[in-house]
Amino acid sequence: MDLSTSTVLVTGANRGFGRALAAELLSRGATVYAGARNPDQVDLPGAKPIALDITSVSYTHL
Ligand SMILES: NC(=O)c1ccc[n+]([C@@H]2O[C@H](COP(=O)([O-])OP(=O)(O)OC[C@H]3O[C@@H](n4cnc5c(N)ncnc54)[C@H](OP(=O)(O)O)[C@@H]3O)[C@@H](O)[C@H]2O)c1
Repeated sequence: MDLSTSTVLVTGANRGFGRALAAELLSRGATVYAGARNPDQVDLPGAKPIALDITSVSYTHL
């Protein structure tokens, strides 16, 4: 599946299921925003790390 026209946001992308999903989406050409509470922990070449805590009510526009 070619996802080169798709942009996705993956939460918990620094490890586990989220990281595996983000890696697969990247391999299919998607633009991937990789959400993590600590974006320095995102080790996914090509992904765009962003700070994201799903329990926080504050947010920053991309
Ligand atoms: N693994 C499975 O087979 C499986 C099967 C069915 C359902 N699930 C569900 O899928 C989810 C992920 O599973 P997993 O095995 O990948 O777990 P995991 O390895 O423990 O990873 C959890 C992820 O969630 C992030 N996270 C935790 N609290 C967060 C918050 N407040 N805001 C943003 N991110 C937060 C963690 O980031 P930090 O590093 O910052 O903590 C981490 O990236 C869980 O809800 C699990 O119940 C998993």
